[in-house]
Amino acid sequence: MNPLRVAILGLGTIGTGVARLLLEHKELLAARAGRPVKLVAAADRDLSRDRGLDLSGVQLFDDAEKLLREAEADVVVELIGGYEPARSLVLAAIAQGRHVVTANKALIAKHGEEILAVAAKKGVAVLFEAAVGGGIPILKALREGLAANRITSVIGILNGTCNFILTRMEETGEDFASALREAQARGYAEADPSLDVDGVDAAHKLAILAAMAFGARLNFAGVHTEGIARVTPIDMEHARELGYRIKLLAVARPHKQAIEMRVHPALVPLSSPLAEVRDSYNAVMVVGDFVEKTMFYGRGAGERPTASAVVADILDIARTNGAGLAPPMGFVESERRAIPDLPMADVETEYYIRLMVRDKPGVIAAVTGILGDHRISLEALVQKERHATRAVPVVMLTHTTREGNLQAAVARIAHLPDVVEEPLILRVERV
Ligand code: HSE
Repeated sequence: MNPLRVAILGLGTIGTGVARLLLEHKELLAARAGRPVKLVAAADRDLSRDRGLDLSGVQLFDDAEKLLREAEADVVVELIGGYEPARSLVLAAIAQGRHVVTANKALIAKHGEEILAVAAKKGVAVLFEAAVGGGIPILKALREGLAANRITSVIGILNGTCNFILTRMEETGEDFASALREAQARGYAEADPSLDVDGVDAAHKLAILAAMAFGARLNFAGVHTEGIARVTPIDMEHARELGYRIKLLAVARPHKQAIEMRVHPALVPLSSPLAEVRDSYNAVMVVGDFVEKTMFYGRGAGERPTASAVVADILDIARTNGAGLAPPMGFVESERRAIPDLPMADVETEYYIRLMVRDKPGVIAAVTGILGDHRISLEALVQKERHATRAVPVVMLTHTTREGNLQAAVARIAHLPDVVEEPLILRVERV
């Protein structure tokens, strides 16, 4: 059988993992695909670094465009990351009639519509399993295994770096900066780790999941996005005592005329399976109307788990030559709609509010008075510390309320003379 010829653009953490897997599992992959899958070329600006790979017999380029011009490959695997030059290179590979596999969530979330339209016209496949959930085959599950369902929610932990940092902070008391450094050393973080900690990476992934789950056009700009930088050990401790753990959560739900899409740190009950997701693991809970609750779990970042997902896509192409695959976004193109995002003010959930206040009589009465004005009722209010001069934390849990009301109340509370810093608002999600 003629081999499937594979070229890799980018030999960073994931590119190295994909090359390693293709070389190490040569026989296994051939047995699964029914034909050899051969790494023929790779490009990276830095070819001098020792990656512990035997790349003899692989054509090496220090310029990805040159690889596209000169290498003979059936599949181009884009593992450079980011918007450009990844977008231009992928479009160029498609124009040459080559199939594309990518792990690039930023690229698909932002330019997926353009790329998939051009690929469909050209009759080539673009697959991107590794873009969401690292090694978890969640996109294939949505496209194929759950395709008979109307999906009613997708809720997940989608960023390995943030989950690793939050786990370290909670379990070992490590500070934020050192936990982030460790996540970078382990190859979990993006080249620019602010994409992880600011929630943008998880938002890219949620945009892809929501479009695929609900038959919508990709709408990355519509994802409300907050990061984990303001979460402190004080919040973790209060959350635990109230029966919760703090996770960076991604939530998508369809409404009548809109889709709710939000990424932010949230309190999940300790009894929730999502509370048990530690370190670089990710998990995605998908609820369908017939199947009910399903849960997908695995490493969400890192060389080997991500390579596993990339190579599964390569195998799909080896088996099918790109023909007869499920539609890339899980719905036939003519049925996909542009659906607006639900304004954050219309979201309804429960809230955790942490204030730093001067410990004086009347402060709590003023705060609860404002909450009452906005028809927000409290489930719990905790002030553990007392101090004559220093500000102390006051933590509140609300019952379900509209985010618009909550924000209006908190804006007033922030102006009270004895509230000394910007209040922290976290949502509570009973998942
Ligand atoms: N930086 C990402 C994460 C890599 O930490 O989850 C996987 O997409």
